[in-house]
Amino acid sequence: MRAVVVALGKIGLPLAARIAQAGHEVVGCDVDQRVVDAVNAGRVPYPGESSLEGVLAEIVAAGRLCARRDTTAAVAQGAELVVAVPPLVIDGEAQPDWRILDAVIDDIGRGLRPGTTVSVETTLPVGAIRGRIAPALERASGLRSGVDFHVVHSPERVFSGRVLRDLDAYPKLVGGLDRVGEARAAELYRAFLGAEVWELGSAEAAELTKLAETTYRDVNIAFANELARYADRLGLDVERVIAAANSQPFSHIHRPGVAVGGHCIPVYPRLLLSGDPSATLPRAARAVNEAMPAYAVERLGDLLDGGLRGARVLILGVAYRGAVKETAFSGAFALRDAIDAAGGLALATDPLYEDGELAALGFEPWDGEPIDAAILQADHPEYRGLTAADLPGARAVLDGRAVLDLAGLRAAGLEAAGIGR
Ligand SMILES: NC(=O)c1ccc[n+]([C@@H]2O[C@H](COP(=O)([O-])OP(=O)(O)OC[C@H]3O[C@@H](n4cnc5c(N)ncnc54)[C@H](O)[C@@H]3O)[C@@H](O)[C@H]2O)c1
Repeated sequence: MRAVVVALGKIGLPLAARIAQAGHEVVGCDVDQRVVDAVNAGRVPYPGESSLEGVLAEIVAAGRLCARRDTTAAVAQGAELVVAVPPLVIDGEAQPDWRILDAVIDDIGRGLRPGTTVSVETTLPVGAIRGRIAPALERASGLRSGVDFHVVHSPERVFSGRVLRDLDAYPKLVGGLDRVGEARAAELYRAFLGAEVWELGSAEAAELTKLAETTYRDVNIAFANELARYADRLGLDVERVIAAANSQPFSHIHRPGVAVGGHCIPVYPRLLLSGDPSATLPRAARAVNEAMPAYAVERLGDLLDGGLRGARVLILGVAYRGAVKETAFSGAFALRDAIDAAGGLALATDPLYEDGELAALGFEPWDGEPIDAAILQADHPEYRGLTAADLPGARAVLDGRAVLDLAGLRAAGLEAAGIGR
C-alpha cells in the first residue's frame, strides 16, 4: 500500500511510522520544515514518545517513510490511503477554528486521484465529515465522493507518550458515508494495524463515539472530584474510598485531581454540547472540574496558616499532565491566576520546559530561592519521591495528583494534603 499521512504531530508521526513499520510506503506531510527535516533525518521532533525513536530511525533508513511539505504533490502521486490528523483548535466555548483543517483538506483535494480513500482522524463535531469535509474534497478535486473517492472518520483514541502501543491495543473505529467506503477504509486499516477494526455504520456514529468516550471521562472525573471535596469535609482519604468502591466490578470511578487539562477531555464535552445543548451532565461536569484549581489553592491557603497573601507559591509542572510537553488547557494557568487572586506570588517549574519557555507561557520561572508553599499540578515522573529538601523553605504542600508521600512530607515538618486526602 502507498499511504500519505498529513500533519506529523504527536499523533500523525507515530501513525505514519506504524504504517511504514508494517511494510508499506509512506509519505508524511507537514508545513513545518523543522519537522520535515527531523523526520527525514530519522529523529523524533518532540520529546516523550520514547519507543518511536528506534522505529523511526529504522524505517527512514529503509526508505519506507519520507517527509515533505507539499501535501498536494504527495497526494497527486497516488495513494490508496490518505490519513489527515491536523489539529482542530477549539476555544473554551467550543468554537472550532477550522482554518488549519480546511487548508489541509483543500491541499489533499487538489491532489486527489480516483481510487483514494481519505480518512480524517482529527476529533470532529458530529456531521463534519458529511457536511463539510466531503463537499470540500469534491470542490477542490472535481471528483465525486462515494464514486471516485471515499472519505471516512476514524477517531484517534491513543494517549500521547504510548501511541505505538495503543495503536495495536484499542479497536480502530471507522465510520463512512456509505457501506462501500467504510468497508474499503477498514480493509486499509487492517493492512497495518494489529488491533481490531470496527465498522460503525456511519461517519456520524464514529464522530459521536469519540465525543462520548471523552465526555464520559470528564463526567466521571467530576464525580470523583465531588467525592474528594466531600471526603475533605469528612476527613477521609478519598483514594482509599475509590479503590474500595472499585473493587465492586460495576464501579469504575476515576481519580480526582487539581485540574482536567489537555486538548481533549476539557474540550470535547463542549463539542458534544454544541450539537446537543439539552444535555445537562456534561455542562455540570465541566463546571465542577473547572472549579478544582481554585479549590486546591483555597486548601493550600488553609494549610499555610494565615493564607497565601505575600507567599511565594511554587507550581510543580505546567504541562497539563505528566511526561508530556503540552500546556493546552493546563490547570497551571488557573492555579497561577488563583494564587495571584489570593495575594500570593505564583512561581513555576517544569522538567520539560526551560525558563524562557515558562516566561513565554506567562509564568514566573522559579529561581530556586526559598518558597512558602508548593502545589503539584503535573504528575511528571521526576516528582515521584519528591522530599522536603527539594522544596526549600516550604511550610505547606498540596499534592494535586496523589503522587507524593504525604506522610514523609509531614514527618519532615510540612503541612501536606491532597485532593480528598
Ligand atoms: N495529542 C493527543 O493526545 C491526541 C489524542 C487523541 C486525538 N488527538 C487528535 O489529533 C489531533 C492532532 O493532535 P497532535 O497532538 O498530533 O497535534 P500536534 O500539535 O502535535 O501536531 C500538529 C502538526 O500539524 C502540523 N500542521 C499544521 N498545519 C498543517 C498543514 N496545513 N498541513 C500539514 N501539517 C500541518 C503542525 O506543523 C504539527 O506538526 C488533535 O487535534 C486531536 O483531534 C490528539
